[in-house]
Amino acid sequence: MAKEFACTHEIVTAAHRAWSGSTWDYVAGAALTETTLRRNRYALDSLAFLPRILRDVSTIDMSATVFGQKLRIPVIVAPMGSMDQMCRDGAKAAARAIARFGTMQTVSSVAGHALEDIAAASDGPKIFQLYIRGDMDWIKAHLDRAKKAGYTGFMLTVDGPYYGLRERQLIHRWSLPSVTDPTRHIQASVTWETFAQIREYWGGHTVIKGVATAADARLAVDHGASAICVSNHGGRELDHGRGAIDILPEIVAAVARQADVWVDGGFVRGTDVVKALCLGASCVGIGRLAAWGLGADGEDGLVRTLELMEAEIFNTMGLIGATNVAALDPEYLTRVTPMGPTHETSAFRHLGDDPLR
Ligand SMILES: Cc1cc2nc3c(=O)[nH]c(=O)nc-3n(C[C@H](O)[C@H](O)[C@H](O)COP(=O)(O)O)c2cc1C
Repeated sequence: MAKEFACTHEIVTAAHRAWSGSTWDYVAGAALTETTLRRNRYALDSLAFLPRILRDVSTIDMSATVFGQKLRIPVIVAPMGSMDQMCRDGAKAAARAIARFGTMQTVSSVAGHALEDIAAASDGPKIFQLYIRGDMDWIKAHLDRAKKAGYTGFMLTVDGPYYGLRERQLIHRWSLPSVTDPTRHIQASVTWETFAQIREYWGGHTVIKGVATAADARLAVDHGASAICVSNHGGRELDHGRGAIDILPEIVAAVARQADVWVDGGFVRGTDVVKALCLGASCVGIGRLAAWGLGADGEDGLVRTLELMEAEIFNTMGLIGATNVAALDPEYLTRVTPMGPTHETSAFRHLGDDPLR
């Protein structure tokens, strides 16, 4: 029987109880001083709503269409590696949960199961994300497999030419297989030329994930990306980056509607998602929050996490006076000074001021 979670706090607490310290730190941790991680939250907390009143908000449509797929809410699950650490069946349990709820999954090539097995676990839409570990023939073989398995789109993650220096993992003396893989260095030689070749061979929707400057967003458009995912990898690669939502507006402006703009990094609340939609994102990726849902209660835990997220988005849209996602714009936001400390669990106020450890 599914566990009862009244709010997201209870999900985070349940995942914390269920996991070993090293799994918690693998998921929650980030690179070096974890400043990028904290800035993701700080940037979200630096925006407040300007609510509009006396509008008829008795019906609210939270749906969005991404790559021709209708999503119940504009929230997708970001690609994550080693998902078998999070719960039994890992990425396959996630596939079932995401399809049950009605949104889209991005599947990491290092998720822990073969891309075909994850595709077969549900009939929901999925994007395949590849870390490059071989030459163009190796890449093409993966693209062929993803095409055959029915993936809706392809995502290239570009913000990790080198694996981030994550001190929590170093302290646990814990190395992921993908870190010790001798072919890892190949990722460091990937260029725009590689992306152009991949895009041409794939022929369908292509997402470039890990864009953090307007200049690179323009290059991504010039190289034919269908979507640009603004991301700092949840602070797990480069330390001392900017908060993801702070980068979003300049990328939306640079892209000028020539591609979709997605964003991830620090989004754990419905208010966070609505802020990104106001600033022009067409959908928002959740990483750690989805992992905590899986840790709390596997497939059912992730479904419940998405339901709670939906309830928060609904509530926020209603309270600011917006009846559909197209109605959201920057006029709903203003800049403010964040309240209190900001870190990976600071959006869950009842857990206290310190991060859960
Ligand atoms: C445990 C974990 C594993 C991840 N593995 C990958 C991966 O394999 N590929 C990738 O592109 N991003 C990976 N990411 C980054 C996420 O896709 C996403 O950018 C990030 O988690 C967003 O920040 P958030 O966790 O604050 O939501 C991973 C993130 C986490 C938390």
